[in-house]
Amino acid sequence: MRWKVVNLEHRKISRAVISRLPRYHRYLGDLLEEGVERISSNDLSKKMQVTASQIRQDLNNFGGFGQQGYGYNVKYLYTEIGKILGLDKTHNFIIIGAGNLGQALANYASFERSGFILKSLFDVNPRLEGVSIRGVQVRMMDELVDFLADNEIEIAALTIPKSKAVEVADILVENGIKAIWNFAHTDLTLPKDVVVESVHLSDSLMQLSYNINQRKEVHKK
Ligand code: NAI
Repeated sequence: MRWKVVNLEHRKISRAVISRLPRYHRYLGDLLEEGVERISSNDLSKKMQVTASQIRQDLNNFGGFGQQGYGYNVKYLYTEIGKILGLDKTHNFIIIGAGNLGQALANYASFERSGFILKSLFDVNPRLEGVSIRGVQVRMMDELVDFLADNEIEIAALTIPKSKAVEVADILVENGIKAIWNFAHTDLTLPKDVVVESVHLSDSLMQLSYNINQRKEVHKK
């Protein structure tokens, strides 16, 4: 079996392609679990509801060219896409704000399966001191700076009120955090070497609401 190997280190992959990679990774992971070794772009297309030509274009970025009549090697693509997404390494993270959302994230075990290891949660509410969530301790914010100095933490998730987010993000950055997973509904202006990924569940809900409206319009006609 021949797979064209491309040196991925030197390839620039567009943001649009990158944004689709987690979904490919998830589907390929499901296929692997089902014991599927290879899949045609047509079958993957039906499963993912993306056109086969889009899949071919996207996956060609990774040298995972399916051979005519043979299909894609599922394990190879899964591994390569995982590498691009940095999932071949572990990433230690902390959660700032151990309220409803912070605890929900901490309770989600699947992050660990993708290599994201939760090391601690932090909060200002003394009632949460010493509480542990799935074996991970909640610490008070006055322990944060020492904790960051003693532990290699790459990512901080911000699940605190938006009024506190800017101030806390600054403290995190001053103490070496280079990646913030921001759930607070506020924009963070941080140095260029800090990556911020903001998540707004309500955006997704609004998208759903838009689609409901569109469907109603179509049925009216
Ligand atoms: P919550 O009130 O249950 O939890 C907030 C926690 O932050 C509390 O435990 C509080 O003691 C702690 N906190 C307050 N100031 C702090 C500080 N300076 N340092 C450390 N901890 C501090 O609120 P919930 O529901 O968990 O929401 C948290 C944040 O996430 C809010 O800003 C909310 O708007 C946002 N959110 C965002 C979503 C999204 O899709 N982006 C979805 C749901 C909530």
